[in-house]
Amino acid sequence: MEQRQRVLALLAEDQVFRTLEEIGGSLELNAPRVRELLEDLRLGGERILEIPGRGFGLGPVADILFEKEIQRYLRTRQLGRPIVFRHEVSSTNSLAMSLAESGQPHGTAVVADRQTGGRGRMGRSWASPAGVNLYLSLVLRPELPPSIVTEIPIVFAVAAARALERQDPPVRVGIKWPNDLLHDGRKLGGILCEMRASSSGVHFLVAGIGINVNMVVLEEDLAETATSMALATGGTYLRPLLAADLLEELETSWEAWLGAGSLEPFLGPWMERSVLEGRRIRVAMQPGFLDGTAEGLSASGALRLRLEDGSIREVYSGDAHIGPLSREMPQRS
Ligand code: BTN
Repeated sequence: MEQRQRVLALLAEDQVFRTLEEIGGSLELNAPRVRELLEDLRLGGERILEIPGRGFGLGPVADILFEKEIQRYLRTRQLGRPIVFRHEVSSTNSLAMSLAESGQPHGTAVVADRQTGGRGRMGRSWASPAGVNLYLSLVLRPELPPSIVTEIPIVFAVAAARALERQDPPVRVGIKWPNDLLHDGRKLGGILCEMRASSSGVHFLVAGIGINVNMVVLEEDLAETATSMALATGGTYLRPLLAADLLEELETSWEAWLGAGSLEPFLGPWMERSVLEGRRIRVAMQPGFLDGTAEGLSASGALRLRLEDGSIREVYSGDAHIGPLSREMPQRS
């Protein structure tokens, strides 16, 4: 078979994207020669696609979150293996919880195109229209005591921010404690962690991530508080590629966290993106609230709040609002 045909056959084999070096390695060709052959194929009418940072593959590319589409870009070992896709589901977190109850393995990712009952933190709903966003929940089975799980939202917030920052065009991401993803003060995404545990340890954990991706029409009650990657940059994003990048960042962070045995590697990256640092805030709790100034994170991921009397209070759960302390912030995001 001539060289061009061998390149084409390789790309057609499993629809995976490959770098020049990977193609060259498989076919015993050097990278510049592979580039020439790809260019020849393109000029000959083949739908050769290049995705920056990912390599070359064959079109057409679909913006649908089918397992096969995500697998084209996926380079993880554990997370997203397998992927369970649904066109419509009440909540990917609820489905992941029930699959986990029936023994679904560590690393399973549940992805949906639309949620009819998307859930947010503090009992809120999560707007989940079809065709535009990413709704993904991961089943995790760490062998850890329940006390340690307060660290996970911090780890995953950093991972999700990094995934958005590496898209083309990149999205600048701020983090609002514990794990809201913001752009220019508006909410881009959020993370909802839920777990089943007993005194013997964590049975499983579900981390659900919602990202507003290509949504440009916002429901009325979100218009003031939310945004999307597309609204932030003017770009359009390929959701299966974003899902694969997100899984990759989550896996890298998960392994780094387990390896370090602490939040240490994440405190700096989290603080760099923190939108609360040094600001006067109100933390809504269930029940009540606390006013103070945000002063970083504790080693276990709690928000350090400097109170009026000068003492520091570590807050483990709540909703932080920036701004005039008397003003109630909108409850839905
Ligand atoms: C938040 O309130 O900031 C957390 C929002 C989490 C939303 C995601 S979308 C995928 C997963 N399924 C859900 O029902 N919720 C999470």
